[in-house]
Order: sequence, then C-alpha cells, then structure tokens
Amino acid sequence: MHIHPKTTPIYQTSVFTFEDLNALERYFDEPGQSYMYTRYSNPNSDELAEQVNKLEGGVGAVVTSSGMSAILAAVLAICKAGDHVLCAEEIYGGSSALLTQELTRIGIEVTLVPTSDLYTLQDYRQPNTRLLLVETMSNPLLQVLDIQRLAQETRQHRLKLLVDNTFATPVITRPLALGADLVLHSVTKYLSGHSDVTAGVVVCQQQEDLQRVKQVMMVYGLNLSPFDSWLAARGLKTLRLRMRQHSSNALAMAKHLQEHPKVEKVWYPGLEEHPHYELAKKQGQGMFGGMLSFRIKDDQEAVNRFMRALQNIPFAPSLAGVNSSISYPLGTSHRSLAKEQRQKLGITEGVIRFSVGVEEPEELWADVEQALAKV
Ligand SMILES: Cc1ncc(COP(=O)(O)O)c(C=O)c1O
Repeated sequence: MHIHPKTTPIYQTSVFTFEDLNALERYFDEPGQSYMYTRYSNPNSDELAEQVNKLEGGVGAVVTSSGMSAILAAVLAICKAGDHVLCAEEIYGGSSALLTQELTRIGIEVTLVPTSDLYTLQDYRQPNTRLLLVETMSNPLLQVLDIQRLAQETRQHRLKLLVDNTFATPVITRPLALGADLVLHSVTKYLSGHSDVTAGVVVCQQQEDLQRVKQVMMVYGLNLSPFDSWLAARGLKTLRLRMRQHSSNALAMAKHLQEHPKVEKVWYPGLEEHPHYELAKKQGQGMFGGMLSFRIKDDQEAVNRFMRALQNIPFAPSLAGVNSSISYPLGTSHRSLAKEQRQKLGITEGVIRFSVGVEEPEELWADVEQALAKV
C-alpha cells in the first residue's frame, strides 16, 4: 500500500523503532535521515524548523517548547558561567526576567542597555561580554531598531547579535540578512498565528551556533511536541497573507486612534510622527506589523470601562492571533518591572496594547469607537 498524504501527518510518538543494530548505526552515521527519540528530533518539529529557517534565511533552526525556552536555548548556546550578556532595556518583561532574575543565578552577568545607547556599546562591553539581545520592534511601545547598524556595532566588539523577531516576523524584517547572528521567535505569536500553540524557535546564521542550540534543546529537554509543531507549521502557511492584513488593519486603527479626542498618544511605527518611521519603512518592506499601543487617561478605572465596553475585542494577555485582542502591559507583560523602570519607559496606567487582527477594519473600528465613548 502506498499512501501519499498532501500534508505531513502528525507523528504522535515519543520514540521510533529500529529493525536491527545496522539500522541503529545508520541513524548515527547519516544524521537527519531517520529518527530515534522525539526529544532529539521528530518529523513535525523538523518540518516547522525548516519552514521558519527558509523564511528567515539561516543555515538551520531549532524549535522549542516556548518563546522563553528559545531565549534560554540561544543564550545558553553562546554563554557559560562567568560570561556577560547585554540586553536592550526595552524588551519583553519575561525576557528581562529570565536574564536578570534567573541566568544571573547561574553565573551569567547581565547589563540592560537603554535604547539610546544600543549603537555605541563601548561603555557597556566587558572582556567577558558574549552577546547582545534586542527585539526588532519592542514590546509594548514599538521602538524599531536598526538591525544593520547594531550588527556593525556588535561585530566591531566581537559580540553575537541575537534578535527577537517576534513582533516583526520575517515577512517584515529578516535580521540575518542584515547581519544578525541568531534570530528567535515566540512562535506562539504571529508564526503560528491562531492563539492555540505555545512554541519557540531559534534560527542560526552559523553552523557552529546551530549545533550548540540543538545540543542545549536536546539535553535541557526544551523540545516542542509533535502536535504543537504540526499546528504551528499549519499556521505558518498563511503567515504572509496574515501579516499583510494585520499591517493594513493596524495602520487604519492607528490613524483613527490618533484622531480620537480621548486618546492621548499612539505608538505605531507606521505613523509618520513615530520617531522611527523612516527606518521602519525601509527595514519593513513598507509594512509595519499588527501591534500598536495607545494611551488614554492614566486611570485604571477608565481602562476598565474601555475594556468592559468592547464587544468583540477581548482582554487577553497575549498577541498576534487572527482575532484582535487588547492587553494591559502594566498588569501583565511588564508587571515584574520596578516602578521607576516603568515610568522611565513610559508604560503608565493608561497604556493599552492593541493586537490588531485580520477582521474587517470597519467592524474593528466601530467596536473601539463605541468603547472609547464610554471611557
Ligand atoms: C517579544 C516576545 N518574546 C518572547 C516571548 C516569550 O514567548 P512565550 O510566551 O511563547 O514563551 C514573548 C511573549 O509574550 C514576547 O512577546
């Protein structure tokens, strides 16, 4: 019987069988030709890794159980106890918590670098500094970084540049082509796209880094399950289509919000007033992504009234699904930041993050507009 499925079946197995010892030897002699144990590799996670790698243009990718484990795998692939990591100050709260609260406990030193200093690292670099971690577009205030300039700077100091490309996706920016060494994603977000998977990926530009990331993934047990790999690979097929709609909807929402009397400020790189508009336009192939943030009155009760009034846009502390959602950085992603740090970054009580989905833009705005009226 010959079966030729059009899509890859789900290999929901923890282990693979061997006919005899010769088959076992072939597994070791011909890497990538057969499978042994799902924690090491599985056809579904390999398919997802290959597809993401193709989009990002690397030498290979490793998928992981979450975006957090992707960051962990990437940092541990490069750093050991006694090494020093630089990290953009304006970054997802979980990423900075992983570095500053956990990796410091196992002897990895961390320094947070303000956005304005990221292109001149001489005052931050130490003899033991190994890498710089940044986000292409920062969470939640959408600061856009010039990856090419960062890559020149990190190369000069012999540091690896690790870029979290979750918000931009390779449809908008391909950091490896701009000189980054490693790219990572919370696949949970746009790459899978339907709010039904938790996953991560690390894509490498150099073979040596790829082998290290694989090793860390395998021995720390950071692998992604076959079913989640399958779901993410399925979502990934429509990434390009989704990103176009996310981007055009977000631009429309940003323009409407900007003109609304109850909105004090809008952060979206597609607005000409955004400080990084020109860079975002050049680096993003004319698309600016589906994420924006805006500020209403700095009063939690006003935020509550807005949230309760929305009819079709739920408050959900995640992002990048096909359905729109809003989040509240102060209460969720940036909860662990100290008060001074939040104030410094501008994440105040009235800031709402809007993950703009792929719905009809008129319907979306109608919902937001009637909710703003109740603020
Ligand atoms: C930019 C960014 N990186 C990494 C993560 C962590 O990903 P995960 O939640 O899939 O572990 C997140 C989660 O929100 C994120 O927004």
